[in-house]
Amino acid sequence: MYFIELNNGVQIPQVGMGLAAVGGWQQDNEYVTDTILKAISIGYRQFDTASVYGNERALGRAIRESGLPRETFFITSKIWDTEQGRSKTHDAFARSLERLQLEYLDLYLIHWPVPAYTRETWEAMEVLYQQKKVRALGLSNFRKADIEQIATFAEVRPVCNQIELHPYFTQQPLVDYCQFHKIAISCWSPLGTGSSWSGVSQSEKPIVDPLIVKIAESHSVSPAQVILKWNVQQHRIVIPKAEKLENMRSNFLLTGFTLSNSEIREINGLNGNKRLGGDPDYAHKNNLTVKVPD
Ligand SMILES: NC(=O)c1ccc[n+]([C@@H]2O[C@H](COP(=O)([O-])OP(=O)(O)OC[C@H]3O[C@@H](n4cnc5c(N)ncnc54)[C@H](OP(=O)(O)O)[C@@H]3O)[C@@H](O)[C@H]2O)c1
Repeated sequence: MYFIELNNGVQIPQVGMGLAAVGGWQQDNEYVTDTILKAISIGYRQFDTASVYGNERALGRAIRESGLPRETFFITSKIWDTEQGRSKTHDAFARSLERLQLEYLDLYLIHWPVPAYTRETWEAMEVLYQQKKVRALGLSNFRKADIEQIATFAEVRPVCNQIELHPYFTQQPLVDYCQFHKIAISCWSPLGTGSSWSGVSQSEKPIVDPLIVKIAESHSVSPAQVILKWNVQQHRIVIPKAEKLENMRSNFLLTGFTLSNSEIREINGLNGNKRLGGDPDYAHKNNLTVKVPD
């Protein structure tokens, strides 16, 4: 397993599993728990959930049913737009822990920037960090200006920024800015989004791009493995979501081949600044209409 050291010394497995819409949007049932248990048996230890994914209980059950010690896992959850603000952040965090039945989180992220609330939310998160209820604090979907805002008051530095990143949307200037400031990049929708929630058709995804397929064939690996390795070799965290066992396996097994610098450059060249998911410039209004289930 590959690890990345975050800027506060905490180690995160570089390959994790994303849990948005496993079994459908906001499903919290035995199917989700079983899917996570399969991932655990393959070797996954990093799991990325969020209050709005509505499956924290299923993840907590899988952790308990695995019989593995809590400290072997790296568990991330996120605070939704409607939960931001000083006291709401404390309430939202407590609810996430309760649903997960955990005593602490490894990483807690602000899911989307809401600049009017960022200071209150982050300061409340800093209290949770000082109380050792969370091992690291981070951001998601933060633009450069949002990070600059945090830098004006934060006492605890964000360890990461989880952003949409795949070969068609590489966000290189933001990646360079974050990595320069030792904010690790975690790539969401690394394979080009999960069909069940995004409505993106298979033919639009980088996973079927002729260049990716050609490079995959030349290494005798899958296109998904090429995209994930392209991220891993550039020191980025990946959280692909997979429900099919063969997909889960191949996404986790990234050893045994290395992309050359020219292959990495060729894949970088696929960037078309093409977002397949939400845009932080506009997402907040719609996010307010999406409820966090109990
Ligand atoms: N912070 C944010 O705002 C944000 C936004 C979106 C997502 N995320 C996080 O990022 C995670 C991943 O993103 P995502 O779920 O949108 O999409 P993704 O990981 O890019 O793609 C998931 C899709 O790819 C398929 N797939 C997985 N492995 C494959 C393989 N080896 N070969 C072929 N197809 C494969 C999956 O199919 P099967 O499931 O059928 O195997 C699923 O349809 C989410 O689960 C969530 O944790 C965060």
